[in-house]
Amino acid sequence: MAAPSDDPLLQPFALKHLTLRNRVFSSSHEPAYSEEGMPKDRYRMYHVEKARGGIGMTMTAGSAVVAEDSPPAFGNLHAYDDAIVPWIRRMTDEVHEHGAACMIQLTHLGRRTGWDQDDWLPVVAPSALREPAHRAEPKEAEDWDIDRIVGQYADAAARMQAGGMDGVEVEAYGHLLDQFWSPLTNRRTDDYGGSLENRLRFAVRVLSGIRDRTGPGFLVGIRMAVDETVAGGIDATAGLEILARLEADGLIDFVNVIRGYIADDPALVEVIPIHGMPSAPHLDFAGRVRSATGLAVLHASKVDDVATARHAIREGKVDLVGMTRAHLADPHIVRKIIAGREAEIRPCVGATYCLDRIYDSGEALCIHNAATSREATMPHVIPAAPRSRRVVVVGAGPGGLEAARVAGERGHQVIVLEAMPWAGGQIRLAARNPRRRDLMGIVEWRVGELARLGVEVRYDVIADGADVAGLEPDVVIVATGAQPRLSELEGGGDHVVSSWDVLGGDVTPVGEVLFYDDNGTHSAMSAAEMIARSGARLEIVTPERMLGIEVGGMNHVPYARAFNETDTRITLNQRVLAVHAEPDGGKGRLCVEIGSDASTHRSVRHVDAVVVDSGAAAEDSLYRELKPSSSNLGAVDIPALLGGRPQSVMTNPDGRFQLFRIGDAIANRNIHAAIYDALRLLKDV
Ligand SMILES: Cc1cc2nc3c(=O)[nH]c(=O)nc-3n(C[C@H](O)[C@H](O)[C@H](O)COP(=O)(O)O)c2cc1C
Ligand code: SF4
Repeated sequence: MAAPSDDPLLQPFALKHLTLRNRVFSSSHEPAYSEEGMPKDRYRMYHVEKARGGIGMTMTAGSAVVAEDSPPAFGNLHAYDDAIVPWIRRMTDEVHEHGAACMIQLTHLGRRTGWDQDDWLPVVAPSALREPAHRAEPKEAEDWDIDRIVGQYADAAARMQAGGMDGVEVEAYGHLLDQFWSPLTNRRTDDYGGSLENRLRFAVRVLSGIRDRTGPGFLVGIRMAVDETVAGGIDATAGLEILARLEADGLIDFVNVIRGYIADDPALVEVIPIHGMPSAPHLDFAGRVRSATGLAVLHASKVDDVATARHAIREGKVDLVGMTRAHLADPHIVRKIIAGREAEIRPCVGATYCLDRIYDSGEALCIHNAATSREATMPHVIPAAPRSRRVVVVGAGPGGLEAARVAGERGHQVIVLEAMPWAGGQIRLAARNPRRRDLMGIVEWRVGELARLGVEVRYDVIADGADVAGLEPDVVIVATGAQPRLSELEGGGDHVVSSWDVLGGDVTPVGEVLFYDDNGTHSAMSAAEMIARSGARLEIVTPERMLGIEVGGMNHVPYARAFNETDTRITLNQRVLAVHAEPDGGKGRLCVEIGSDASTHRSVRHVDAVVVDSGAAAEDSLYRELKPSSSNLGAVDIPALLGGRPQSVMTNPDGRFQLFRIGDAIANRNIHAAIYDALRLLKDV
């Protein structure tokens, strides 16, 4: 580890007239925190937290839209609206107060959006070619559209300048600007199609318009796919030529390098790699761009640890290194580097729950940092409690570990009891899929933090009520998780095994395997992936209208790949009703009866094994045992919980401790829910 004074990451950088305090930035990403298209309190506080945490520059928005006919596909900011200026001003002022630079990304999404959002305006693109990911049929932009949008880019940039931004970055990978210059999306025969010069005409007009309106004191950059990596698209030679032209014309001050193509999810995953994929896959390419241009070079793509970021700067691959999701996981990375506390940085584990949620649920949340984007109510730095109490946490899964961590930070005396010889709960199961083993970072970081905080963890303890009460706790947190729910089959439940048995390695189904997914989450998809990859002949049956209904688009890609490559048969809209042993002579085979909610049609399968995922049931026996001896009888004051006040329910004055349960011990949800339960409750204990 370098001393702070000579750490390459901590050296200042002059981006034209703007001096950044260090080399770490967060690239523009739309977290969908906007309200009516405005960056209000939640949005602002999210970025200010990174500035407080020491980042050199935070690039805001992600595809802030310059025109109404660029309907916001994922909560994008309305850069076309004058009402945005005061909101931008508040955000830039506060980011600047904490010493970081602040920029924003502008765009017209072109065909990369849907038509049924906001104003229901038709989507425009250089040519009437549909983008697979967003599926809108665009109209071919007319001459008056082009003139209008060129002006709207300049107007939007002027608004951002008025709002105190240090600069703007124009998005040119998969959006309107590069849809014009990529031969894949431009089939025009007018002045905007054909030769490279013609295909660049729109971008040159846009960038010239921005320069003219904002003047030399305002930074303008481009985030572009310098190599689309698709046959017939912009290759590295063409990309570098485009860059050279824009540089020679003085239209840009920096380039933020992208390598790849984003028109469909499998392509997007190569640009924004998820867990199980190599770290920093495009860093060397960014270095190639840096040696070919005089522009400042920025880049972000799965640089999720400090060592790789440091390498990127030390080896001169880039001028500024993006750690974008890494800052969703921990907005205080630089502060911890400076303090020599690198080991305490909460790692980004690449789960990409954050990105998947902007489409699925309309807000980016980090799988294991429940404070991110909830800065108004959830602390990133846990304050000490007014008095130390004795807290016993039962269960060392993600919820229990988080509860113990937060209680430890509060200064309480904490004991964790765990039935297994290790920590991790269901994460340990999930990480048995080699492609998902980075999830263990969620556990390992917390185990490390508990050691630092002096929290005692007792393994191999199957605690009963007397064991817990014997520790004389003031507060008991039951985080005992869940057990796989057995399928409610009409018959033959004893012939099936659960997805957990497969993930845990207790069972390896062979031959012809039927997987009944009546859950739709990772546990089912991941177990099915492991079976498919093991060489079994797999059929997945689900009553849902799509496969893995709870799994987002980015995370779906490796599952789809596994099922495609193994010729897995997918059967939608059908249920397993019953499983029977084949009569004698069936050699242990099973007969599976399949039906559907939509019809009375029935069919059968003959297979060697049936695996079922029907979710999980709360493991709440300890909670129920402890309830009568608690002072609150397990009750939670929900207004106090939501209002950030301590719990003070006293329904049993004879009770000896407060009792709460969190995570799956209440009801089967997910990692984020368990961690949020823990943080929200324990920060006020
Ligand atoms: C929730 C989310 C939204 C994103 N939206 C945008 C966007 O609007 N524009 C953009 O250029 N990149 C966007 N990105 C990509 C990030 O800027 C970045 O390139 C990507 O996360 C890879 O960098 P990282 O590995 O450091 O996170 C988004 C990423 C996330 C996680
Ligand atoms: S959800 Fe996963 S990928 Fe996204 S920031 Fe959190 S740890 Fe990183």
